[in-house]
Amino acid sequence: MTVDELRNKWLAFFASKQHAIISSASLIPENDPSVLFTTAGMHPLVPYLLGEKHPAGTRLCDVQKCVRTGDIDEVGDASHLTFFEMLGNWSLGDYFKKEAITWSWEFLTSPEWLGIDPDRLAFSVFAGDENAPRDEEAYQYWLDCGVKKERIFFLPADNNWWWAGATGPCGPDTEMFIDTGKPACGPDCSPACDCGKYLEIWNDVFMQYNRTADGKLLQLSQKNVDTGMGLERTICILEGKKSVYETEVFADILAKISELSGKKYDESEQIMRAFRIIADHVRCATFIIGDQRGVTPSNVDQGYVLRRLIRRAVRYGKQIDMPAGSCATIAQVVINKYKSAYPELEENAQKILSELQKEEERFARTLSQGLKEYNKVAARLKSGDTIDGVTAFHLYDTFGFPVEMTVELAAENGLKVDTDGFNAAFKEHQAKSQLGAEQRFKGGLAEQTEDTARLHTATHLLHAALRKVLGNGVAQKGSNITSERLRFDFSFDRKMTPEEIKQVEALVNEAIAAAAPIICEEMPLEDAKSSGAIGLFESKYGENVKVYTMGEFSKEICGGPHASNTADLVNFKIKKEESSSAGVRRIKAVINVK
Ligand code: ALA
Repeated sequence: MTVDELRNKWLAFFASKQHAIISSASLIPENDPSVLFTTAGMHPLVPYLLGEKHPAGTRLCDVQKCVRTGDIDEVGDASHLTFFEMLGNWSLGDYFKKEAITWSWEFLTSPEWLGIDPDRLAFSVFAGDENAPRDEEAYQYWLDCGVKKERIFFLPADNNWWWAGATGPCGPDTEMFIDTGKPACGPDCSPACDCGKYLEIWNDVFMQYNRTADGKLLQLSQKNVDTGMGLERTICILEGKKSVYETEVFADILAKISELSGKKYDESEQIMRAFRIIADHVRCATFIIGDQRGVTPSNVDQGYVLRRLIRRAVRYGKQIDMPAGSCATIAQVVINKYKSAYPELEENAQKILSELQKEEERFARTLSQGLKEYNKVAARLKSGDTIDGVTAFHLYDTFGFPVEMTVELAAENGLKVDTDGFNAAFKEHQAKSQLGAEQRFKGGLAEQTEDTARLHTATHLLHAALRKVLGNGVAQKGSNITSERLRFDFSFDRKMTPEEIKQVEALVNEAIAAAAPIICEEMPLEDAKSSGAIGLFESKYGENVKVYTMGEFSKEICGGPHASNTADLVNFKIKKEESSSAGVRRIKAVINVK
């Protein structure tokens, strides 16, 4: 089965069950400072799981682009990926366990859909604990589908409770596994063990709780279903392949790497690992740059992760004699493969190729010299020794070696790196610590607090005020909100004057003082545009959009949430106006709240 086939089957199946097909959200979460990338299909839907109304209705299905770089160092083995697609279907206070389970069963086993032999399937359900009861209901629905008792396992929260992060919507789940037919590893063998007998392909989460920052579980106002099937992993399992890199997903990409390097994928363990790392990292980098809210390589946040991916690919490319400029050549294969499902890749093709090319060149200028320097350092040390932080920082600062790369090189020589020392040196140079970014990435989903909703409203007012003062050439290029401040990037090609900044502040504060109610309406995108709403909306399937109107002042397409009246805001102030990148300015601003 190909990725296109599985994706299309998924959407067609759930459309036949009255689900609206929604487009993949951006890989770069908007207004959620707690994570760098969208890591699961549910992530962009959190506000709707918490009760906000989704413009496309209460039954949704999608294929969401996801990036998880927490395991980046594991990439190179048979299964780890930094980029993947997650198939999802959603009930937002609509159907619950019965329909979710019955449809999962139909999709998995019906010859019209995946046609998996029921004897090859196994299931797990929540065993119950002090938070929630044993899930007899889910168990019964599987039995009703015709599943044999011995194929259903009751497992604890470690296995069958899904958390989005430290806070946010969560609940018990039921998971679906392929039984590979391997003999059981012992009397307690179950889908919970990693002996390889059972491989998970799908997870239905019954989200009925919201975990608060103090660890309490509150009942959500509505019961939701959130399901997730990893597309690449499922193809691998269905095809009975040992590695996802041996499936159709990577066939064209690996063939191109082979052509470029003159090596064969399975020539040796080492070459295979290099092929996998290059294939994964270039695929991921292509999607990050080519995203609706694409980023470019830099030393902070998403840009830093992107830089690490590209530089790691280049370094492994060197190991297999891949010529300079290969990343862009491989990216073109990725674009061709995915452009029908993700049109943004084709739209941004030039940017993808040129950013990869530039980053390769930047790195190439210092890589050989840096490796020489590294080798000198390593030669002075013996196995078990530690490279000090200042040296690691020097490799970073002078030769562009991400510290993780130095750690990886060091490990190959049996050396360690003082990363704390590196961070101290880094901070000393007044740069923003990338470790901060990585830690944020590991964090949970941000709670949608009233403060962030108000700042979100302030962002709309700011956007409208900028257009009034600087002209309609101003368009939003990005935004990021924490509970303390907003950050807004917009197209404009020079520094704003102090007068312009004052004017913008005054206009926003007037709009606040006007105490306009904030009205949300849903409509097709075309109607939104013809009504004069500004803002971006990427849609492949023609979903409705939400338009937020704030008096006469602002009308913008957006997902929300917002304050209910502009008077919920007080005293808007611009703290900083600076350059973000060529032709893009960045404003940081705050409000006081009552
Ligand atoms: N949100 C669930 C997952 O990512 C479905 O596994």
